Amino acid sequence: MTARIFFKLISAVLIIMVVALTAVDFLASEMAEQAYLQGLTIEMAEKVRMLRTLGDKQLLQLNQQTVRDLSHASGGRITLVAPDGRVLADSESDPAHMENHGNRPEIKAALAGQTGTSVRQSPTMGTNYLYVATPVSIGAARIAVPLKEVRSQVTHIRQRLIVYVGLAFLPAMLLAAIFARYYSRRLGEIIDFASTLATGNFQARLPQTSNDELGILARQLNETGSKLQHIFEELQREHTELEKLERIRKDFVINVSHELRTPLASIQGYTETLIDGAIHDDSNNIRFLHIIRQNAERLGSLTADLLTLSRIELKSQKFQFASYYLSVLLTDCIDSLSPVAAKKNISLLLLPVPDKAEVFCDSEAVHQIISNLLDNAIKYTPEGGRITVAARPLDGAVRISISDTGIGIPHEDLARLFERFYRVDKARSRELGGTGLGLAIVKHLAKAQGGDVGVESVLNQGSTFWFTLPTHDLGISEHGAI
Ligand SMILES: Nc1ncnc2c1ncn2[C@@H]1O[C@H](COP(=O)(O)OP(=O)(O)OP(=O)(O)O)[C@@H](O)[C@H]1O
Ligand SMILES: [Mg+2]
Repeated sequence: MTARIFFKLISAVLIIMVVALTAVDFLASEMAEQAYLQGLTIEMAEKVRMLRTLGDKQLLQLNQQTVRDLSHASGGRITLVAPDGRVLADSESDPAHMENHGNRPEIKAALAGQTGTSVRQSPTMGTNYLYVATPVSIGAARIAVPLKEVRSQVTHIRQRLIVYVGLAFLPAMLLAAIFARYYSRRLGEIIDFASTLATGNFQARLPQTSNDELGILARQLNETGSKLQHIFEELQREHTELEKLERIRKDFVINVSHELRTPLASIQGYTETLIDGAIHDDSNNIRFLHIIRQNAERLGSLTADLLTLSRIELKSQKFQFASYYLSVLLTDCIDSLSPVAAKKNISLLLLPVPDKAEVFCDSEAVHQIISNLLDNAIKYTPEGGRITVAARPLDGAVRISISDTGIGIPHEDLARLFERFYRVDKARSRELGGTGLGLAIVKHLAKAQGGDVGVESVLNQGSTFWFTLPTHDLGISEHGAI
């Protein structure tokens, strides 16, 4: 491809040079011939004019021999013509056998008193001749020279001209070849680069060596490459994100059906046992009914949690944002859960809250966040443990933390703890009536208030769950932003 461009460029230069050489040759030969002919005409005119110095008598006495001598001396054929056109003397032929010269154009002009010139083929010699005639006292005197000399002179000039111009064209040819080679190589690089892009390698770049059109093209192709690279990476990221979302969705469906199946199977099993006769077994019937109620409650709380989550996610949950005193908000929540903690002999302590500290939130949502966190802290802290609730002001927000002296969480589980249905110990959580949705609800509610969540924990020592709430209206809509 580039080789074709190279040969095209070189052929174009060659054609231009041949055309230029032909034109120069044509013009130069024309000019040289004209100049030579002009010079010869002037020279011959001067020579023939010398005959004017001879008087009538001397001219009439010129015989064949003297005319021949004059011809040798002048280098041309000499002819004397009478006013009536008759040839009086000629250095080459016998005048008696020569036809009347009265109609020869140069003779006509000379007989009319002017110097006449003419170039034509001599009927006697068969070659081109230059004729120059001048008036003399007895009529006209004419000198004729063959133009063979002119031709050979012009041919000589042409040959030299062609050699010199050809030599002058050589460096031009060389330069054209270098340029053609250079540009075809760069075009080759651009073609290779375009093919690399076409194969999907968007990281390749072209070297930018100049500011000419090819340099600009290289720069723009590089820009196209980096844009394609950017779009490609973006698509890959989106693809990974979509794959991740699809995995989460599938996991969620599996989890939900599993969580529903377990209590349902239990309810079904115990109901059948009761129908099959256990209803009359006084030692077991009440226990079986308790189990059925427990599972029904579990189903109830599971569906309630799922509904809460989907409402927040679909933004159909309405929030009533307002400013609240933090101490009031925290005391309310703690009061409602302290009997549960007391049952397990766990001390529940609220550290002093900054005076008059206010938060901007939905009190119901915050109540649920704290309840879920306290519920976990109580659930996963052995009897006799301690739970501490504290609040610390941040820049434009307040950080509320709930620390326990419970079982703690392994480090590798911390990152996934806020995912739906994620539980460190599934069996234990289920045993304690947990669905694994509590922390997912905490996270979504906190984000909907314009806050954040986090956890720090040391296994077998305890955990600290925290969340933040803004102190001022952040302009979050009533439907919340997640
Ligand atoms: N304070 C804590 N100490 C130790 N582990 C905890 C604590 N809080 C949560 N976890 C772990 O995180 C998991 C998820 O908690 P989450 O509140 O989401 O679910 P759950 O308590 O099992 O069920 P529920 O939906 O009823 O709250 C729990 O199963 C438990 O393993
Ligand atoms: Mg929980």
